[in-house]
Amino acid sequence: MNKPLNDRFLRALQCQPVDRTPVWIMRQAGRYMPEYRDIRAKHGDFLTLCKTPELACEITLLPIKRFKLDAAILFSDILMIPDALGLGLKFVAEEGPKFHKVINSAADVAALPELDPETDLAYVGKAIKLLQHELAAKVPLIGFAGSPWTVATYMVEGQTSKQFNKIKGLMYADSTTLHKLLSHLTRQTINALLAQIAAGVHAVMLFDTWGGILSEDLYKEFSLHYMARVVAAIKAAYPQIPVILFSKNGGKCLLELAATGCNAIGLDWTANLSTAKATVGNKVCLQGNMDPAVLYGSPERIVSEVQKILAHFTDGVAHVFNLGHGIPPDIKPEHVDIMLDAIIDYHTVKL
Ligand code: CP3
Repeated sequence: MNKPLNDRFLRALQCQPVDRTPVWIMRQAGRYMPEYRDIRAKHGDFLTLCKTPELACEITLLPIKRFKLDAAILFSDILMIPDALGLGLKFVAEEGPKFHKVINSAADVAALPELDPETDLAYVGKAIKLLQHELAAKVPLIGFAGSPWTVATYMVEGQTSKQFNKIKGLMYADSTTLHKLLSHLTRQTINALLAQIAAGVHAVMLFDTWGGILSEDLYKEFSLHYMARVVAAIKAAYPQIPVILFSKNGGKCLLELAATGCNAIGLDWTANLSTAKATVGNKVCLQGNMDPAVLYGSPERIVSEVQKILAHFTDGVAHVFNLGHGIPPDIKPEHVDIMLDAIIDYHTVKL
């Protein structure tokens, strides 16, 4: 893809100086936007939107047109890989994702196919190519995948879980099978991300939503290790493409995350920014970390919470502003404007 006109997001990821802190929002194209709800109501379910390149492209652009954001993120989902692996994904209203088939044995893992992203995930590449044209290189486009561990939790549990007893059961009863599943997913993830980069994304991010449910040792063995393999493969093929790792509740292993060779670490709101800066602030860019619930607060409170985060980065440590997790569906879009204006105004005052 062409070099974007607004490159402050890419510069921050490379720890280069920027004119102001770049910002984007996890789940920025989602149900809190009336424009998204309209498209969803007209065209049916979420998976249809993901698998129709024209719609995925249009939805990716919605928040870019509506808000002062510094990056677009492809409209898709981390569960498209297990869907392509044949598990039969559907989204049930109020309940979230469900798989028709679940993985619970060595035979299930051995039967998983190797994906060819050019055919099995062709709609992703097509959406990126459309965006290349439609974004007209205004802001960078982020590609993404789930971490192998996080995607495996959905494949083994069959749905979103609270206790994660099935995957933890597999971990303790037959760790060899779980490692085989994670290796398989690691290969599919690498190939899918390489295809996204070849199609034109400017940066990639791994979402490790459930790494934080593991103890430190198990996190390193079952989550971090496989993310490190993904980073190494991306960097070997495309050294200039920035890689962001987001492990929710991953504050314990910042040094190890930075040692993977990633460019940036996403932090949730429970991370202590002073500690994170002191631990890895001279090695990687930090992304985050406002509690999404702040956006339920008053305009004054939103502004003061934004300022509290930005005050940590006046010394030039590389930072991309984001929420600590996805934006909830019932946030008022005007509150997003207040947050974004507070970020922009903060820098205007400083300059
Ligand atoms: O950030 C973006 O705007 C890009 C698109 C994106 C979506 N999901 C769209 C989506 C991204 C990057 C994701 C990542 C994702 N998907 C994660 C990791 C990040 C996280 O949120 O923890 C996970 C765990 C998933 C799996 C998933 N997809 C769940 C559990 C759900 C249901 C929960 C919910 O919010 O309803 C989804 C659905 C989903 N993915 C929606 C969107 C816009 C809502 C779809 C709808 O109902 O219209």
